[in-house]
This record gives sequence, C-alpha cells and structure tokens, in this order.
Amino acid sequence: PAHLWILLPRSDHPDGASAEEEAERGSKIHKWAGEELEQIKRACALSREILDIGAAMVKPGVTTDEIDRVVHDATVERGMYPSPLNYYNFPKSVCTSVNEIICHGIPDARELQQGDIVNIDVSSFLAGFHGDLNETVFVGKPDAENVKLVHCAYDCLMAGIATVQKGNLYKHIGDAIEARAKIYDISVVRTYSGHGIGKLFHTSPSIPHYANNKAAGVMAVGHVFTIEPMVNLGQWQDVTWPDKWTSSTTDGKRSAQFEHTMVVTDDGVELLTDWKEIG
Ligand code: MF3
Ligand code: CO
Repeated sequence: PAHLWILLPRSDHPDGASAEEEAERGSKIHKWAGEELEQIKRACALSREILDIGAAMVKPGVTTDEIDRVVHDATVERGMYPSPLNYYNFPKSVCTSVNEIICHGIPDARELQQGDIVNIDVSSFLAGFHGDLNETVFVGKPDAENVKLVHCAYDCLMAGIATVQKGNLYKHIGDAIEARAKIYDISVVRTYSGHGIGKLFHTSPSIPHYANNKAAGVMAVGHVFTIEPMVNLGQWQDVTWPDKWTSSTTDGKRSAQFEHTMVVTDDGVELLTDWKEIG
C-alpha cells in the first residue's frame, strides 16, 4: 500500500542495512520492563496470530508466494510492518523454507507438494518493537522420517527453553539442544543462532544452538531473545544460495526449525509468541 512507509522500522536503509543494529553489535544485553516490554508483548502476540494465518494456508497446490501475500496483508492490517521486507535486501515479507532449506527461504511460485515440509518464519514490527517466531508445517500426510525430524526440532526448542532462568549462561542453551537432538540421531545447524530482539530485529545476546559454544552472557530478568534451533536429518553443514539468503543443507537432506521469542522473568521464562489473549 502507498502508506506502508509509515510503519517502517528504519529511516536510513538505502541498501536495507540497519545502521542501528551495526552500531549495537556485541554490546551488553538490554533489560526490558514497563510499557516497552508491554509493546514487545503486543508485537509478539500479533506475530503469533499472523503465523497461524499463514500456517493454516498450507496444503498441496498452494505456493509460498500466496503465503507471503496473505502474511503481508495480515501484518499491515494489524498496523504492523513485516520485519523481513527489505531487511538487508530480503525481498519478501516472510521466510518460507521448504524441505532441505534450513532457513531464510524466499517465497516463490512453486506449489507445495504432498509430503513436503515448510517452515514459515514471521517477524513483524509494531510501533517500535519486533516479534519473531517460526514453525515447520507438514504438507498433507507426512512419513515417519519427517515426523521424527519435525518432532525433534520442536523438542529441541523446548529443551532450550527449559534451561532459561535468571543466572544461567546463554552458552548452556546449546548444550541442552544438541543433547536432545542426539537422542534422535539428528544434527544441529551451527551457522544461525537465536538473538536478542526488541527495538532492533537482531541484537545481543547471540545464542548458538550447538554444544560447547562460547556465547557470552548471563540471563537476567527483562532479557528478551529468541531460541530457534534448526536440525537436519543428515549433516549439519549449510550452504547459501547465490540469492545471498536461502540457506540449504549441503547433502540435500531435510531440515526443520521452530522459534519462540521469550522474556526472562523472576521465576523463569515467559514465552511471548505462544498462544494467549491479546491485551
Ligand atoms: N527468524 C529469522 C531470523 O531471526 C527471521 C529472518 S527474516 C530475514 O533470522 F529477513 F532476515 F530473512
Ligand atoms: Co529469529
């Protein structure tokens, strides 16, 4: 729409880069509270609604371009801007990653087929704050191997979340995730990490999903971040397509992912992108 610009997160992005993110790189972790935290919660709850709308479209014959269009319109209808759109030149409003695509797949004209899996990654920006979540969905009826992969990805996200508590170390999230993946004989992607989020789309902390990582930082009340493990049926290695975004497994075997945005609370963790009433 003509007035989409008014929803934009960034005023200074001729090439889609975020000067604010570059400036903040490696800095300490912000503690959110009060009305700002409430705004992040609203952005996250609305992002959940948008993901559910996109995921409900998934069936054989639907294209990821059609999902992109519906996600885009649902975002703007809620007074939000789709965070991926023009973010470092990402060309669409949602990431759709099919089968061997690990993450950052670009919606296109291919029709989803019975037996595919598709990850839909929704991030949206509401009046100054981002929310971010993704889920992997079956297209039609899955076979046992795909059920195992997708179940493992969800179980790994939950294993990571279970470690979140004030005083715990960010580097230990990956230990829990990789230990859980190992039970399934499934590998964990090393190139992409969870991230702090708030006024910026991607900021500190950086949260690797693999074991024995060197991530900095101690969890504290008010930290807001994502955990988003990507797990592969074959090897963990990834390769980026010439489009500079699409990340694929190198062996062509399938990959799955789930993501939540959360906040560290006094007594544990609150999932901001889970289902709940919108206040
Ligand atoms: N959840 C994804 C991430 O944090 C969203 C990426 S959108 C993109 O990487 F524009 F960066 F592709
Ligand atoms: Co994310």
